[in-house]
Amino acid sequence: MDFLKNIQLVGKMIFGAGSFDRLDGILTEKRSDSCMVFLVDDFFQGRDLADRIPVRNQDRVLFVNVDVEPKTTVVDDLRDRILQLNGRAPDGVIGIGGGSVMDYAKAVAVMLTNPGPSSKYQGLNLAKNASVYHVGIPTLSGTGAEVSTTAVLTGPEKKLGIKGEFTPFHQIVLDPQLIDDVPRNQWFYTGMDSYIHNIESLTGHYANTLGNAMARQSLHLCREVFSNGDPTDLASNEKLMVASLLGGLSLGFSEVGACHAFSYGLSFVLGTRHGIANCIAFNQLGDYYPEGVAEFKQLVARLGIDIPAGVTKGLSEAQMDKMIDTTLALEHMWRHALGEGWKDRITRDKVREIYQRM
Ligand SMILES: [Fe+2]
Repeated sequence: MDFLKNIQLVGKMIFGAGSFDRLDGILTEKRSDSCMVFLVDDFFQGRDLADRIPVRNQDRVLFVNVDVEPKTTVVDDLRDRILQLNGRAPDGVIGIGGGSVMDYAKAVAVMLTNPGPSSKYQGLNLAKNASVYHVGIPTLSGTGAEVSTTAVLTGPEKKLGIKGEFTPFHQIVLDPQLIDDVPRNQWFYTGMDSYIHNIESLTGHYANTLGNAMARQSLHLCREVFSNGDPTDLASNEKLMVASLLGGLSLGFSEVGACHAFSYGLSFVLGTRHGIANCIAFNQLGDYYPEGVAEFKQLVARLGIDIPAGVTKGLSEAQMDKMIDTTLALEHMWRHALGEGWKDRITRDKVREIYQRM
């Protein structure tokens, strides 16, 4: 196993309440004679935030629907639409939204300079040309998408990210004031993505001092938020925003594990959103993460969060097989969680048995 990861981090980062108002100045430095394209969660259509986007002359604002997980086909459509509208690549792509919108922004930025369908680039370092300038602005905290080297996409054959040095944002804008309008369940599911990132990062064979330090601090912040915070509290949103960032950074040097391997299977076959899929999976993984799962269950009970049950009931044999295939194909996650001999430690039958409990 190669434990040394030489990863591309995000370029510039601004953090703090009001930082969204600096966006116009930030983009001015990057403008040439093309335009900026803002990819925005369609949740914000007609809301205040949409009016605050610093749109200039030829810029485009494209609202993106993220009711389902990001798809390679949507990335291709967005890329084609932008090139058609603008006639050439824009000066920049700015993603404003949760993890899904940020992943779209990262993927579209890469695909504007790399030919063919995005499904061709699902994997590690498959894009050969540098992406266009891109900016990530989270409006939900937890996924770590703002800082990750991956744009996670569901393609025709698999759920796998476009991962590599051209994927990370050149700039992120972390303004906790943007995160004050999130339904409670969603706040929990997305925030818990960060909690689970930390547990997985810390518990596995790629764990290391650098990743552990960030994961521990992120975990500490998650605990503060979910013990005392609420989704409308600025101080708690600031903490969750930093937790998401540190958790995502920690993963850069370590890896996700069993929970993400299961959650990708749920998302691929059932289209379940990432945060909630993680919660459904983590709930059943006490054998792998005993302390983390015990604490998770306490938080769920105390906050009165609804974790769906019975989601795999009624799956056809073919769907279950596809789910198991998806899970076991994520070798890097299993190698981290269980070590080189992982194939002897997690069988198809075991995966099926765990899925049947979800
Ligand atoms: Fe995640």
